[in-house]
Amino acid sequence: MNYELIEAKGEGEISQIMSPTSDTRVFGKRVYSYSKVESTNDIAYTLAEQGAEEGTVVIAIEQTEGKGRVDHYWFSPPRGLWLSLILRPLMVSSSISQLSLLGALGITTSIKRMFPLLSSGIRWPNDAVINGKKIGGVLCRAKNEQRKVVFVIMGIGVNVNIEEFPSPLCFTATSLKRETGCYVPEETFQHCLLEELERLYFSFLDDSSALLQEIRLFSSLLGKQIKVKINQEELTGLVQDIDEKGRLVLRLESGIQRRIGPEEGCISG
Ligand code: BTN
Repeated sequence: MNYELIEAKGEGEISQIMSPTSDTRVFGKRVYSYSKVESTNDIAYTLAEQGAEEGTVVIAIEQTEGKGRVDHYWFSPPRGLWLSLILRPLMVSSSISQLSLLGALGITTSIKRMFPLLSSGIRWPNDAVINGKKIGGVLCRAKNEQRKVVFVIMGIGVNVNIEEFPSPLCFTATSLKRETGCYVPEETFQHCLLEELERLYFSFLDDSSALLQEIRLFSSLLGKQIKVKINQEELTGLVQDIDEKGRLVLRLESGIQRRIGPEEGCISG
């Protein structure tokens, strides 16, 4: 497939694509913008391998093979926000899973900032939800060498102005347009999101416990009875916490406590 690069903006031109209120130091200083691609994550991965700097963003109006978690297809027609962010954190590879939570938190705090009356939250491990319906998700892909991270591609999808979803998504997904009844310029949300992500990311690198507090604050699962699917096994339990490694702390019906890593399981009910 051939991609049409609409624009690649460098440092000098950034004021033209950032809203007057956006204020990022690193994120979005270089933006590769496409009309239609298979997946922004793949393009960002290639750019990162070629040495693209931290904070570089790849964005597309439409994706034909958007990738979701656990090999799911990600519905990405025009009017959503589909972007991938290149990160180069100095961390061990075992800490990467927390970045998905960070991404979901970034979507949630952006919604809170723009629409304080909407009750958005995080659904572990990588979803942003409004009233139990998914409004956005995060897919991180990392390149590691000797258990150290070389780079991470943080792929973020947000249903900004999508009005109709195909079945079965129509039962589980929502958009900002559907929740607010208003058209929300995708670019405005993008600027807010990059600001939030930058704030959360550097605060996380500095002190990961601060991030955890914010994740707990916005977690829609704490104190709830849920079902988690781990391979073929389904566990039912009460969500007690999200721990410092981003694991879900579940008290099973038997009374036993189980910690589940983000890559291990997904919520099934
Ligand atoms: C999920 O919730 O399953 C994760 C969805 C991640 C979707 C985004 S859209 C931009 C980036 N490119 C992709 O192919 N996927 C991510």
